[in-house]
This record gives sequence, C-alpha cells and structure tokens, in this order.
Amino acid sequence: MKKSILACCTIGLILAFGAFAFAGSAPGTGIKQTSHDLSSGGKGMLWDGGTLADPTLDRICIYCHTPHFAIKVPAGNPNGDYLPLWNHEVTVATFQTYTNGISPDDPSHMLNATLGQPGSVSKLCLSCHDGTVAVNSYGYAGFTKPAVAGKSVSGRFLISTDLSNHHPIGFDYNAVAAADDEINPADTPLNGANVYGLTIGDLLWKGNMECSTCHDVHNTKNEGVKFTWVEDTQSALCLTCHKK
Ligand code: HEC
Ligand code: HEC
Ligand code: HEC
Ligand code: HEC
Repeated sequence: MKKSILACCTIGLILAFGAFAFAGSAPGTGIKQTSHDLSSGGKGMLWDGGTLADPTLDRICIYCHTPHFAIKVPAGNPNGDYLPLWNHEVTVATFQTYTNGISPDDPSHMLNATLGQPGSVSKLCLSCHDGTVAVNSYGYAGFTKPAVAGKSVSGRFLISTDLSNHHPIGFDYNAVAAADDEINPADTPLNGANVYGLTIGDLLWKGNMECSTCHDVHNTKNEGVKFTWVEDTQSALCLTCHKK
C-alpha cells in the first residue's frame, strides 16, 4: 500500500515537473516561457543588457506592444504601415532580396515570384532579427525603461539585412500559384494535424508571403517548434505549398 502511494506520488511529481518544464515552450501553448518571452520567466530572458527587463512589472508584451502611447502610424511610412500598438523601434534598413543566381534571361530556372522589400509585418520581425535595432530598443512616450546598453540578436537568430540566402518573402503568393503548377493554391489546408483548420491564404499578408506565413510570433496556433505553423518533420511545412 505504502509503496503504491509512493509510486503514485513519484509519477505525480514527474508529471507535475514535466508540465512545469514544458508549459509554454511547447508549440501552440502561448508566448510564456518561449524565446519571445523576454521577461525573467522566459527563454529569451534578460535582454535589457543583463538587467531584469522592465523591473517594476516584468512584462512580456512590452517589448513589442504597449496599451498606451504606441508608435503612431505615419501616413505613407515606407518603414511600415502596420503598427499594432507597436512599442519597438522599427527597422529602416533596405534589404537584399532572395536570389538563386539565375538571371532573368533564363526563364526555365528563374523565380516566378516578383520580389519586393519585406512587407510591414515582416519589418516588425526584422526590427529585432536584422540586427540593426537592439532587442531592448522599446518604450516610447510616457514609459521609462532602465537605461541599458543595446543588445542585438546573434548567431542563427540574426537573419540580417541580407535576405539573399533566406526563403523568398515579399511577393504575391497567388500570382506564383497561378504561374507554377508545383505551388499549391492559397485555399490549400496546412499539412499535418491542422487542428485550427488554417489554409495558406489565412497566413498571407495582403496576399503576400512574409515571415508570418511560416511563423506564429506568439506561439498560439502553431504546431511546430521555432514558432512554425506546421512542424517541419518530414518537411511537412514545405510540402504544404510545394508539390514536390
Ligand atoms: C516579440 C514581439 C512580440 C511580443 C513579445 C508580443 N507580440 Fe503581439 N504581435 C507581434 C507581431 C510581430 C505582431 C504582428 C503579427 C501579425 O499580425 O501576424 C503582433 C500582433 C499582435 C496582435 C494583433 C494580431 C493578432 O494576433 O490578434 C495582438 C492582439 C497581439 N499581438 C497581442 C499581444 C499580447 C497580448 C502580447 C503579450 C502577451 C504580445 N502580443 C506579445 C509581436 C509580439
Ligand atoms: C522584440 C524583438 C523581437 C521581435 C519583434 C521578434 N523577435 Fe523573434 N526572437 C527575438 C529574440 C530575442 C529571440 C531569441 C534569441 C535568443 O535566444 O538568442 C527570438 C527568437 C525567434 C525564433 C526562434 C524560436 C526558437 O524557439 O528557437 C523565431 C523563429 C523567431 N524569433 C521569429 C520571429 C518572427 C517570425 C517575428 C515576427 C513575426 C519575430 N521573431 C519578431 C526577438 C524578437
Ligand atoms: C518558408 C517558411 C519560412 C519563412 C518565410 C521564414 N521562416 Fe524562419 N524558419 C523556418 C523554419 C522551418 C525554421 C526552423 C528551421 C531552421 O532553423 O532552419 C525557421 C527558423 C527561424 C529562426 C530561428 C533560427 C534557428 O535556426 O534557430 C528565426 C530567428 C527565423 N526563422 C526568423 C524568420 C524571419 C525574421 C523571417 C522573415 C524575414 C522568417 N523566419 C521567414 C521557416 C521560415
Ligand atoms: C507558404 C508556402 C510556402 C512554404 C511553407 C514554403 N515555400 Fe518555398 N516557396 C514558396 C513560393 C510561392 C516560392 C516562389 C516560387 C517561384 O517563384 O517560382 C518558394 C520558393 C522556394 C525556393 C526557391 C526556388 C528557386 O527557384 O530559387 C525553394 C528552394 C523553396 N521555396 C524551398 C522551400 C523549403 C525547403 C521549404 C520548407 C522549409 C519551403 N520552401 C516552404 C512557397 C512556400
């Protein structure tokens, strides 16, 4: 009797600890404890130059959003016309777009996509991931944050301003799907379990393919690690769009 209670408690403890250890960082379980949780409880913690982020409240959303005094959308702003209560300095970089090295006079291997600069939703990502703006460059009117040195992402998190060797973004998805019979149409459901019933089209930005077409920044409805909408096991993410 005693033994089975002990065993039961041990299993309980393991389960409780397991749940604690993985809560939030598992795909689709929310932003808490992921690498986009820059509070003291998150994986991406202590981005304020080694001090505690936002020491008074130790918030999560504050690095990207604020309820009051957010950045105003300036008319015709070339750096982004989508600022959802945005509280983070926006990149003003010009980006090198994707190339496979084939010139336009070789139509057989040329891209069907006409690439432009990243759309404003991607510029929100690139405001931390291009390395030109520090992760802790947040907080505007009416908000005092600790005065600390700027700190940028590094290593594989640093996508940089050179997107020439990154999956193409900033193009009209439907135009490509119409021209290329090995690209699935936008009404195709995502590969995998797809518990939220999403289609490719749901993830386009004004019809364009962007960072957010593959990634869910808040870790809410994604099924894959690294915030990907679909787990890339057996390249399921790629096969959502590419008929290969
Ligand atoms: C690391 C930056 C980052 C953090 C932290 C963050 N967000 Fe966001 N949020 C974004 C980006 C980027 C977008 C635009 C993405 C899009 O619309 O696809 C966005 C869009 C939104 C939107 C509008 C679109 C939607 O999904 O409904 C809401 C609401 C939102 N965020 C709420 C929150 C809340 C609440 C928190 C904190 C619990 C939070 N966000 C934390 C980056 C962030
Ligand atoms: C406020 C700054 C900020 C913004 C805005 C931001 N990120 Fe991040 N992101 C980070 C930091 C910091 C990390 C973790 C880096 C580290 O741990 O060294 C990270 C990590 C990631 C990772 C790796 C996740 C993992 O579990 O390994 C992905 C993928 C990612 N970001 C994509 C995006 C996308 C897509 C957007 C826009 C929709 C975005 N980020 C917007 C700061 C940001
Ligand atoms: C075609 C889909 C796709 C697009 C578009 C895309 N990503 Fe990713 N991204 C992935 C996949 C899959 C991974 C995980 C595998 C890897 O690391 O290569 C990833 C990984 C990452 C990582 C973590 C790097 C690492 O190796 O841990 C960051 C940061 C990131 N993406 C940011 C971005 C940003 C910013 C954009 C837009 C400029 C973007 N991604 C566009 C599919 C995409
Ligand atoms: C949301 C849909 C989507 C997803 C997901 C996606 N792709 Fe793509 N990919 C495209 C489109 C559309 C193009 C542009 C094709 C064109 O212009 O002909 C493209 C372009 C490419 C190219 C460039 C081809 C060339 O001619 O230079 C390669 C390679 C590629 N994708 C591989 C991948 C891989 C690997 C993955 C998974 C990690 C992936 N894609 C995920 C839609 C997607």
